[in-house]
Order: sequence, then C-alpha cells, then structure tokens
Amino acid sequence: MGQSNAKVGFIGFGNMASAICDGLLVKAAVKPENMYACARDMSRLKTKCSSRGINAMGSVGAVCGAADILVLAVLPQQVEEVVKSNTYALKGKPIFSVAAGIDYDRFVSYLGEGFNHISTIPNTPIAVGEGIIVAEQKNSLTPDQLELFEGVFSKIAKIEYFSSELLSLGGTGAGCAPAFADVFIEALSDGLVKHGMTRAQAYSIVPQMLIGTATYMLKSGKHPGELKDAVCTPGGTTIEGISALEEKGFRNALIYAVDKVMEKKHSM
Ligand SMILES: NC(=O)c1ccc[n+]([C@@H]2O[C@H](COP(=O)([O-])OP(=O)(O)OC[C@H]3O[C@@H](n4cnc5c(N)ncnc54)[C@H](OP(=O)(O)O)[C@@H]3O)[C@@H](O)[C@H]2O)c1
Repeated sequence: MGQSNAKVGFIGFGNMASAICDGLLVKAAVKPENMYACARDMSRLKTKCSSRGINAMGSVGAVCGAADILVLAVLPQQVEEVVKSNTYALKGKPIFSVAAGIDYDRFVSYLGEGFNHISTIPNTPIAVGEGIIVAEQKNSLTPDQLELFEGVFSKIAKIEYFSSELLSLGGTGAGCAPAFADVFIEALSDGLVKHGMTRAQAYSIVPQMLIGTATYMLKSGKHPGELKDAVCTPGGTTIEGISALEEKGFRNALIYAVDKVMEKKHSM
C-alpha cells in the first residue's frame, strides 16, 4: 500500500489524535507535511507538532480549510461545543469522530442532517499501525469519502463496522481490552520471574507469544479451542496450567470484566 496524498486534519491533539498521527507516520501512510492539528493550548500543541513534523494550526477552521479528512478527537463532553461553533467550516468535509459514546444519532442531534460524519472507536495500538477502528455502519460519508477514510486509515488499523447497538460493545472488545491484555502480559511475566527469568526476558517473549498466537489463529482460521488442544499433550504439563486457570476462574474473570465495563457504560 502506497503513501496517500490525502491531507489529514486533527481537531484536538491529545492522546488519541497523537496515537493516530504516530501510526500514520510509522507506516508512512501520510506525509507529515500533509497533517494539520489544532488544540486549545497553542504552546503545547506546537511542541507536539514540531516533534512530529506536522503543522500546528491556530483554529478548528484553519484545520478544516487545510485538510481533506478530519479526525475529531476532542473529549466526548467537548464535542457538542466544538462542532456547533464550527458548522460552516465542517460542512462538506468527511468527519471521522473518535469520541466515545457519540454515535451517529447523537452527532445529528448536535448538528442536524447535512454533514458527512462517521462515529468510531479506535484503540491505542493504532500508534504503531496495528490498531482496530470500530466504526458505526450508520454514517453519512459519501461513497468517495468512505473510500478516502478506508484508504488512509486501513493502513494503520483493521476497520470493522458494527450496528449502532453494538458499537459500544465493539469499543469494549477493541478499545478497553488492550488493558486486559497488558495485565495478562504482566501477570504471566510475574509467574516467569517468580521462577527465575529476568523481567526483560519475560517482556521479550510473552508479548511475542501473544502476537504469534493471535496471528496463527487469524491466518489458520482455526478455533482457539483446537489450537489450545494441540498444545495440551495428554497427561502433560500444559494441561496442568489450563486446569489451574479453570480452577482460578480465568475465563469467567474475563466475561465478568466485559459485564462490568458494559454496566459502567450503560450507567453513563
Ligand atoms: N485514549 C483512548 O484510549 C481513547 C480510545 C478511544 C477513543 N478515545 C476518544 O478520543 C477522544 C480524545 O481522547 P484523548 O484521550 O485524546 O483526550 P485528550 O488527551 O484530553 O485530548 C483532547 C484534545 O482536545 C483538545 N480540545 C479540547 N477542546 C478543544 C477546542 N475547543 N478546540 C480544539 N481543540 C480542543 C485538547 O486541547 P488542549 O489539551 O489544548 O486543551 C486536546 O488536545 C475522546 O473523545 C475519547 O473518547 C480515546
């Protein structure tokens, strides 16, 4: 996949916008001089932009004027004010919103119809070009704008479309779960360190084991149970570990974690 000549604008340049920008830079998907960003604190913005070689802009309007596609990356509670005070500049531009909890209908309740927008939830591994973008099927991008969105951002993330009802759940699986995976890596490494491995050795092999296991599953199309069974020799050592995980409720801990995330989301 070649480099896109698209001009990408970031409205808000905090953690998520920086992660998306870094992914585009790491994968050489967009030239740094073709990226534009704005935020409220201009001096902090300039520092963050100059270290990446992208353009720091003085206003939302300036970003909209320069860019072909916009990444709306302010906090959810800031979205309404930002879009309502920039309707003229946003009109006709494809808006790729990353604000959690602001789905298509909420966006329309702020701006009305007549804007081109898609609601998504990206995850932080996008910073290294290995992200997931959970995107809402219901959106108002034109076919050309959708092609532009996918052309640029599929270089740094797998884009999966979900119904409006499942968007938030998709965000739990893709957006919250990296933290669960981090805890898995840390805890498994604790076990290895307990038995004498150095922390550095553990942090070298455990993440690679996860990458390899996941890649094997995706590429082979095999069921995870089948792959697990292939490692468990009858009467062997791995099945002892599996048995211990079951005894300690490993599976149910993960199911319960999803329950609690969704419970919290529904209460907000
Ligand atoms: N972090 C994650 O893992 C994650 C995952 C998925 C989705 N998201 C979504 O990503 C969005 C951003 O989250 P974040 O963690 O990146 O937040 P953040 O670090 O607080 O960044 C918010 C950015 O918005 C800017 N901003 C606020 N009001 C503005 C305005 N009126 N005009 C221009 N810029 C303005 C802020 O500028 P100043 O700093 O100068 O005030 C800051 O650069 C949120 O909606 C969140 O739901 C985050």
